[in-house]
Amino acid sequence: MSIKKIAIAIDGPAGAGKSSISKVVANKLHYLYIDTGAMYRAVTWAVLHEHLDVHNQKAVERLLKTLDLAMEATETGCKVYIRGEDVTEFLRQPKINDNVSIIASYKGVRQYLVERQQAMAEVGGVILDGRDIGSVVLPKAELKIYLTASVEARAKRRWLEVQGTPNELPLEAIQRSVTERDEMDKNRKESPLVQVAEAILVDSSDMTFDETVTHILSLVEERVNCE
Ligand code: CDP
Ligand code: CDP
Repeated sequence: MSIKKIAIAIDGPAGAGKSSISKVVANKLHYLYIDTGAMYRAVTWAVLHEHLDVHNQKAVERLLKTLDLAMEATETGCKVYIRGEDVTEFLRQPKINDNVSIIASYKGVRQYLVERQQAMAEVGGVILDGRDIGSVVLPKAELKIYLTASVEARAKRRWLEVQGTPNELPLEAIQRSVTERDEMDKNRKESPLVQVAEAILVDSSDMTFDETVTHILSLVEERVNCE
């Protein structure tokens, strides 16, 4: 008997553990994982690379037509290509963090990316993580999770991640950047970050990485058994 494959939507604020947890859960379940944040980051990279004004919505939306953005799911996560160039390694830079929420607030950008995300998810057996997955991208997802943690826990995790890398910043600066991005993502007009009514809240503030994975796998199992 084949086990039913469902669509899983994971939304939540920055640093909650969405991408890292989704990647592990997808590998364990043999699901396709799509990091939608990486797509918004890639558009932001292109805008900065072309020296466009991030506040010029028209110019940003015009650029979309020339991007040829493509995603590739690998064992280690998602790779993003712009005009055939793998830009994945540039996507976690502080300048991308500082500008991505502005770019993600533009309707044209969201339409362009949501269309691609929905097309990729059609295969079934997918986990998508982002801000609007349960509300806009996969409103019919069988399992919706709102993964969060205290801002202190999330900033500390991000700080630990960048130690010894070129993206290293003091903890206070990271907490400020995470808070600002959350505010923008929650308060924008187009598809703001929300916990939809049917989403299960998972607060990972006091959970280890492995505990969070185990908990989410148990939620998937429960849901699959109900189908
Ligand atoms: O990894 P982190 O949570 O810091 O960010 P991300 O998931 O890579 O997303 C980067 C930014 O893209 C977010 O702060 C949002 O502004 C935007 N985003 C969005 O608007 N909708 C999504 N589905 C995913 C990301
Ligand atoms: O995608 P999102 O911004 O929600 O977060 P992430 O990039 O997946 O996770 C941020 C960091 O938190 C990663 O280094 C994870 O390993 C870590 N993490 C953790 O320490 N404990 C958890 N319970 C969940 C994630």
